[in-house]
Amino acid sequence: MNPDDTKKMVETVDVSPAMPEAPSGAASPDVFRQLLHQAVRVADLSNAQAMRMAMDFAKVYEREQGVRKEFELQLRQMALMEKQATRYAEDLAQMLRTERERRHELERALEQERIANEELRRTGLQGISHLLLAATIKDRTTGDHLLRVRRYVEAIAERLGLPADLVEEFGYSSVMHDVGKIHTPDHILQSEHHLSDDEFDVIKKHCTDGEKMLGDARFFEIARGIAREHHERWDGKGYPDGKKGDEISLAARIVSVADVFDALTSKRPYKDAWSAEAGLEAIEKGAGERFDPEVVSAFVGLSREGAVDRIRQEVAATSSEQNGSSAK
Ligand SMILES: [Fe+2]
Ligand SMILES: [Fe+2]
Repeated sequence: MNPDDTKKMVETVDVSPAMPEAPSGAASPDVFRQLLHQAVRVADLSNAQAMRMAMDFAKVYEREQGVRKEFELQLRQMALMEKQATRYAEDLAQMLRTERERRHELERALEQERIANEELRRTGLQGISHLLLAATIKDRTTGDHLLRVRRYVEAIAERLGLPADLVEEFGYSSVMHDVGKIHTPDHILQSEHHLSDDEFDVIKKHCTDGEKMLGDARFFEIARGIAREHHERWDGKGYPDGKKGDEISLAARIVSVADVFDALTSKRPYKDAWSAEAGLEAIEKGAGERFDPEVVSAFVGLSREGAVDRIRQEVAATSSEQNGSSAK
């Protein structure tokens, strides 16, 4: 009820005829009406106050609802983030587990490969000694020649700065340089006379024969190169392919120097042994023509340091020791 309606109602209230006689001294109807007006005003004020309070309360309630909703939303987001973080952590842990398993598998595979390589190496080395036995019987090449060539090759390779495993591989591969001579007829191989061109052509085949004999195993890769190329020349005038310079494998270029030096300084059925000085001079002369100049200078350096003489003496000492023990 609005204030005007209230006022109208108060004005129309009949306060005199129907009412019992007012005792003397009691308030007149006007006073009563006035009091009624005041009472109504107070009631209006209270009503308005109550309305204001209710509206304030509604506003506060609304605000709180908003805050609560916001809070719930944030809680939901946090729960979602937590779930995502957990999943991420689980994925990460799984990845780490997989990675660890993979690493273990790789380590196992590497270990197996190492064992397989070691076996291959042992088999290869056994193969080499069988081949050499056959070759030395056939060619009458002395084991000393092969041993000296191997030692020169290792010393040169080391001086050229090659890694230790390659130095070793060059060394044991070098002893098979003439393995193809197993196929060369004895009368040509053991001839003490000057060879005819045809005979020399037959001899030349020992390079490709040797390469073929060494098959296709990776273990003999360097040995195959040496067998085929150890008679090639730096200037391209060698055989069997006429390769020149870097076209010839480094191992073969090194073996070429070591093999020729040892052949010159050894006694053969058709010639006396040259002195080490004469042999070295011939090698130096061949630098840039028959031999790789860098390999020659490494060999000359070794010779100046006394390494070449030392190798010759050590091999001679081992040889006489073996001969002595076999004579007993
Ligand atoms: Fe040869
Ligand atoms: Fe040789």
